[in-house]
Amino acid sequence: MMATETNKTEVGSYFISNYPPFSQWTPEGLAEVRAALDAPPLAPPGQTEPAPLGLYLHIPFCRKRCKFCYFRVYTDKAAGDVETYVAALSREIELVSRLQIMGGRPFRFVYFGGGTPSFLSAKQLTSLVDRLRANIHWDQAEEVTFECEPGTLSQPKVQTLRDLGVTRLSLGVENFGDKVLEENGRAHLSGEVYKAWDWIQAAGFPNVNIDLISGMVGETWDNWKDSIAKTIDLAPDSVTIYQMELPFNTVISRDMLGNHVESPVADWPTKRAWVDYAFDELSAVGYAVSSAYTLVKDKNKVNFSYRDNLWHGADLLATGVASFGHASGVHYQNEPDWAGYVGALEQGRLPLARGMKPTPHQLLVREMILQLKTGRLETGYFRDKFNVDVIEHWHDAWRQFADEGYLTFDDRHVALLRSGLLRADALLPAFFETEHRGVRYT
Ligand SMILES: C[S@@+](CC[C@H](N)C(=O)[O-])C[C@H]1O[C@@H](n2cnc3c(N)ncnc32)[C@H](O)[C@@H]1O
Repeated sequence: MMATETNKTEVGSYFISNYPPFSQWTPEGLAEVRAALDAPPLAPPGQTEPAPLGLYLHIPFCRKRCKFCYFRVYTDKAAGDVETYVAALSREIELVSRLQIMGGRPFRFVYFGGGTPSFLSAKQLTSLVDRLRANIHWDQAEEVTFECEPGTLSQPKVQTLRDLGVTRLSLGVENFGDKVLEENGRAHLSGEVYKAWDWIQAAGFPNVNIDLISGMVGETWDNWKDSIAKTIDLAPDSVTIYQMELPFNTVISRDMLGNHVESPVADWPTKRAWVDYAFDELSAVGYAVSSAYTLVKDKNKVNFSYRDNLWHGADLLATGVASFGHASGVHYQNEPDWAGYVGALEQGRLPLARGMKPTPHQLLVREMILQLKTGRLETGYFRDKFNVDVIEHWHDAWRQFADEGYLTFDDRHVALLRSGLLRADALLPAFFETEHRGVRYT
């Protein structure tokens, strides 16, 4: 079940990153996935050119598992395992680079996500990139993102990232209070953020982002205010703030379900009040709100290629264990386990595990809810692309949300008000097809 608007932070997903829900994708759907990957790229509805192309690489290693983490990560792998994985990933990129779906397109955006990509040493990273470059390059990419955990960084590693072409370094700070970081199982303390910050500044990345979470266990108003003040002092190019959610597979969720303990996470109104405060404080020093989660220091300097292309229906080739991709309108996910992933590549096959070909209506829902997360929809875009008037189609939902004070709309746009932005993901299931409203998300 999706977490609903009850006030307590219960076990269940909040954040919506795709549609139809992942739980609806199946191994039977892979025939459509293979057909899409083995054919030249299709132009999206209403367009003549193929969609922009992106690449996601999943690096699933971490020093420690955060108690709130729900991603596929490994904390027990030694250097030999990392080499096995890097070899598998390089082989996968080789196979992907030969697929017809590439269609001669350059990668417009590249994303190294985790896990913790910065878990790899500078040597392992250089060796990975050398092997990738035998088959692909990202010389024409407008954005190359790399997720980092502060305590894994060193000056030479940060410089290596810049030299390898990373343009956007995203630093998982989450909170500046050491007690809070410890209590949530983070691998780093705040001192490591400050050490890494000097190296990051010196390397000169075009965009440095800080991730924060509203609702870490142990967080209080004082601690949150202090964390926002410290974020402002560092003056990153962008700040991303997630509201803590507790999907089924986190350590905290398992403790709540298994031991029948109360949620240790602040309730939804408190988490929203914290984000609201952060939006106010960051806006007061010149940041602009760029989505339900993100603020940017200089709108003219920072764009979000990965986010904005993906939310407008770009192709995303997914590599690495458990990765999610989207090609010519078809969804797919890679093998979610180490043995399945590495095994497939050792046999020279793509490690595909499940997929789904959405209907044209489902593609419309997907793009509309993703773009709503920016806080603004242009109805003309959907008329041109999908031939649907989204205002007319979902009139009752827009009316209800407007009456509740979450948004305003006319026939040309929808604009989320602050109260709508703060609960953006809770609004989105209203646009799902009926059969997908009550289902488990992941
Ligand atoms: C895939 S994680 C990678 C972070 C990286 N491993 C690090 O240690 O900094 C990306 C971001 O997801 C967010 N995140 C992870 N679990 C979350 C949860 N349960 N609720 C809300 N946000 C979460 C955190 O802000 C985190 O920085």
